[in-house]
Amino acid sequence: MKGIILAGGTGSRLFPLTKVTNKHLLPVYNAPMIYYPLWTLVNSGIQQILVVTGGRNAGDFLRLLSNGKEFGLKHLNYTYQEGEGGIADALRLAENFAEGEKICVVLGDNILQGSIKQAAEDFERQPKGAHILLKEVANPERFGVPVFEGDRIVRIEEKPSRPASRFAVTGVYFYDATVFEKANQLKPSGRGELEITDVNNAYLQEGTLTYSVLEGWWTDAGTFESLRSAANLVAETLAKK
Ligand code: DAU
Repeated sequence: MKGIILAGGTGSRLFPLTKVTNKHLLPVYNAPMIYYPLWTLVNSGIQQILVVTGGRNAGDFLRLLSNGKEFGLKHLNYTYQEGEGGIADALRLAENFAEGEKICVVLGDNILQGSIKQAAEDFERQPKGAHILLKEVANPERFGVPVFEGDRIVRIEEKPSRPASRFAVTGVYFYDATVFEKANQLKPSGRGELEITDVNNAYLQEGTLTYSVLEGWWTDAGTFESLRSAANLVAETLAKK
């Protein structure tokens, strides 16, 4: 399985911190934000990784991450998203890199305490489709939210004003090779983006989306509040070690 980190977009919710740099280069306690999704992939055993970035500071990723040697990688791949057409738009740029293999996609602002190794191994055995990781949160209205019938997900709603469950769809997604044809069929949402939630709903419609619930803490770091809480969670976890 190959890994993809999506680190494009403008990070407008963190302005002016993102005025002269890319969101994913900002510090989260003692490491740049992009290190965390990279560790998540590397620690799950994934070696072939593509970083999708964008904006005016794309060259800084190369200076920071270089060839990936510091992370135990032999090589690191990069590509560039023009504009900020959404998560699924950034993902479309990975089609050549994926070469028909299964992929694990991690959003560049997602930080996880635990490992996704088991989920990755389980998905290798899943014959086709997609697998998402859920986490119970206090503020589901900020995220993609699954709607359940019993323990079956029937639909995912993006940032619903009245969330149907207490779960967020985290920014770690496992997909088979059909993800690109699904992403290429999308129409922009109300906020003008190609939504990853629409990709996941396409898998739900064909009955091939599975899920599991993530253990350990999880956060994004794309708002002032979540960036602060991400730094605190990392610091507290390191202090306990
Ligand atoms: O963090 C999990 C949530 O991430 C999910 O629950 C939501 O369903 C999903 O839509 C997403 O929500 P956000 O509104 O938090 O996404 P955001 O626009 O902050 O983008 C998250 C990352 O995706 C960002 O750090 C970099 C990447 N991205 C985003 C956009 C809009 C790109 O690479 N290109 C883009 O154009």
